[in-house]
Amino acid sequence: MAGSLDREQGIKEVLISTERVEEIVAGLGQEITAYYRDQEKLDLIVIGLLRGSFVFMADLVRSIDLPLIVDFMTVQSYGDGTVSTGDVKVVMDLDQSIENKDVLMVEDIIDSGNTFNKVIGLIRHRDPRSLKICTFLNKPSRRVVDVPIDFCGLDIPDKFVCGYGLDFSQRYRNLPYVGVLDQG
Ligand code: IMP
Ligand code: MG
Repeated sequence: MAGSLDREQGIKEVLISTERVEEIVAGLGQEITAYYRDQEKLDLIVIGLLRGSFVFMADLVRSIDLPLIVDFMTVQSYGDGTVSTGDVKVVMDLDQSIENKDVLMVEDIIDSGNTFNKVIGLIRHRDPRSLKICTFLNKPSRRVVDVPIDFCGLDIPDKFVCGYGLDFSQRYRNLPYVGVLDQG
């Protein structure tokens, strides 16, 4: 497809193919299901951070074979560029109380860790019974603050990636694979 109607314009390579994404998500779903199945009591709420996690969330919750509810939260950490500011603001809060619930936080990618570190602090304050963290992608080489990841899809190198929910200036979220942005 040519020119301005090409959704892949600016993507220089495919890092994780659609097939591989499906395998990763299915694996995470099995791991998460197995973990929570062992709990004596379960009141599971899966919380996605918008907007990046929306595609991953949709696939992940369908691969978790347990009763659960879904909620979303929007925090702002990035401007329109590729550099984290370190500051986090809650733009849209959860719809329900998480007190005494088993919370599974879902993130698209953990980079410096700044965003998630702040969000985790906020969530802990609301007294969930348990709190676990799942991220689709992880960039360990970029970590500035420690984040205790419980379920990780894939560690990736220090490259700016797009697709499968991940954006650059709000674009590319609808790519069905994860690609590397050509940053010239
Ligand atoms: P952190 O606070 O540096 O860990 O950044 C986390 C957030 O930055 C993620 O939720 C993403 O929205 C965004 N982000 C970090 N790396 C990338 C990337 O490679 N592509 C797209 N978004 C990214
Ligand atoms: Mg983002």
